[in-house]
Amino acid sequence: MSLLVHTRDDLARARGALPGRVAVVPTMGALHEGHRANFRRARESADAVIATVFVNPLQFGPGEDLDRYPRTLDADVAVCEEAGVDLVFAPAESELYPHGRDGLTTVHAGPDGDLLEGASRPGFFTGVLTVVAKLFHLTRPDVACFGEKDFQQLALVRRMVRDLDFGIEIVPVATVREADGLAKSSRNVYLSEAERAAAQAIPHAIRAAQGSPDPLAAAEKVLAAEPGLAVDYAVVRAGDLGEAPASGPARLLIAAKAGTTRLIDNAAVTIGDPDA
Ligand code: PAF
Repeated sequence: MSLLVHTRDDLARARGALPGRVAVVPTMGALHEGHRANFRRARESADAVIATVFVNPLQFGPGEDLDRYPRTLDADVAVCEEAGVDLVFAPAESELYPHGRDGLTTVHAGPDGDLLEGASRPGFFTGVLTVVAKLFHLTRPDVACFGEKDFQQLALVRRMVRDLDFGIEIVPVATVREADGLAKSSRNVYLSEAERAAAQAIPHAIRAAQGSPDPLAAAEKVLAAEPGLAVDYAVVRAGDLGEAPASGPARLLIAAKAGTTRLIDNAAVTIGDPDA
């Protein structure tokens, strides 16, 4: 049975009663199969699991979807119950930012926070890292699980934990996909039928890239053939977001808009002939 708490005091009390090793799964709610996979991994990694549900205004830019972001707390708690989550922390904004957001001390990612998602969404990773740091302090986990779907977020959280000595193990969880290959995302509900069809070029591009010695060229070819997608970036980087190697394992990262909905995805690829 998941205990739902809204205040930091109730969280501190409930956290204190949890046994052994504790895992946290930070979320913005609208929970889907991707989150369930994170909860499963959290259960395997610890004795008790905390889920946080908070739509963090600090990581939304002007004109982004903060107001229309799905808020489904009752359903989210039901998902948590079913997934064996012990404690759900769903604070109000005033609980998490009791002194307001103006003049707030924030966590700034290194230069890689200004690339890719950070280039298109200025301040996004400052918002993410700041709230994640706060949630880590409040929930005091031993382990935290993050989906690989948000690969840059995962890399930057790892780096924050390393650079700022949080002493928390960060566990990556493989991306969960819809039957048509689209990566599960709370934002998929925004897609019209036509946009959804166009969005499938993203998993198609990934599959093409995974079967090619030149993964970027293969992905770009598929994406360029889909007029319903506005590609923001398609890049190949090293697994830690550094420059891609001349050959060997790397990561393909894609961001594109279908209508007004921004979608991101990524996958492991190999540059060059894997058998060479
Ligand atoms: O990935 C998300 O849902 C959010 O960026 C996170 C990590 C919960 C921070 O608000």
